[in-house]
Formats: sequence, structure tokens, C-alpha cells
Amino acid sequence: MTFSSAEKAAIASLWGKVSGHADEIGAEALERLFLSFPQTKTYFSHFDLSHGSKDLRTHGGKVLKAIGNAASHLDDIPHALAALSDLHAFKLRVDPGNFNLLSHTIQVTLAIHFPAEFNSDVQAAWDKFLDFVSAVLVSKYR
Ligand code: HEM
Repeated sequence: MTFSSAEKAAIASLWGKVSGHADEIGAEALERLFLSFPQTKTYFSHFDLSHGSKDLRTHGGKVLKAIGNAASHLDDIPHALAALSDLHAFKLRVDPGNFNLLSHTIQVTLAIHFPAEFNSDVQAAWDKFLDFVSAVLVSKYR
């Protein structure tokens, strides 16, 4: 997967705005995932999923920081996310269909918090980016 220089700029500039709020944005994206697609909660039965919980913030921060790591390695996302690919494929065994759902709620959250920046070009670049991140995280399933 390659990204054009315009796509790279769109991903980097929005990540620059998100990075200081990774816990809040991540927690909100997860909360939207669990509210809109309740079946996704089955993977997190050991978490407190109530609004504003520490678990949501901590895990949301981890997910968003992994996305930030990918955003900083757009030319080699598979390498940057190799350990997470192993974790999701071999240990967690998350159904691959769930990744699109999370990509969607991340984009909804970004659109709400950054309405001026999240124009159609930035949305298209982030959609492609999150699709690729998801593809990498499910690439080792067999
Ligand atoms: C754990 C990232 C999608 C379920 C993690 C961790 C990260 C992460 C960074 C923590 C790893 C660690 O502690 O070493 C991502 C990214 C995703 C994604 C970037 C896609 C953009 C999903 C989806 C699900 C899921 C769609 C299920 C609906 C889990 C679970 C854990 C986990 C159950 C373990 C939580 C725990 O017990 O601490 N993920 N993830 N992930 N992820 Fe994902």
C-alpha cells in the first residue's frame, strides 16, 4: 500500500491535532463502538465499559497511540505493527469484521472533534489509512 504525498500530509496533520488527546479520542471511539455495535463488547468482558471509565481511557489511549505509531511509519506499517498483528491474530483472535466497525467509529469521533480539518480529502486519506492498519492487523490470521 502506498500513500500519495497529499494523503501523507492529510494523515500527519490530523494526527498532530489528535496526538495530545489520544486517551479522550480513543475512549470516545471505543464507547461509540460498544454502543453502536454491542457484539464488540464480548472481547472486553474484563473491562469496566461504563462512560468515562479508566479502562476505556487507558485502552482508548493504547489504540490511538498504535495508530499514531502507524501514522509515523506510513512507508512501513506492517513492520511498525508487527507485534500487534501477532497479538490480534494469535492471542486475541478478534473476528476480522470488527476492524471496519472500529475504523468507522474512529472516523466519526475525528469528524466531531475536528470538523474544520476533517474535510472530504482528509476523510478519504484516513479511511484508506485505517483500512490498511486493519488489513495489517488481520494479515496473520489463518
Ligand atoms: C489490545 C490496538 C482493533 C480487541 C490492543 C492493544 C492495542 C490495540 C495497542 C494493546 C496491546 C498491548 O497491551 O500490548 C488496536 C488497533 C486496532 C484494534 C490499532 C484497529 C485500528 C481491535 C478490535 C477489537 C480489538 C476491532 C475487538 C473488537 C482487543 C482486545 C485487546 C486489544 C480484546 C486486549 C485488551 C486487554 O485485555 O488489555 N489493541 N486494536 N482490537 N485489542 Fe485491539
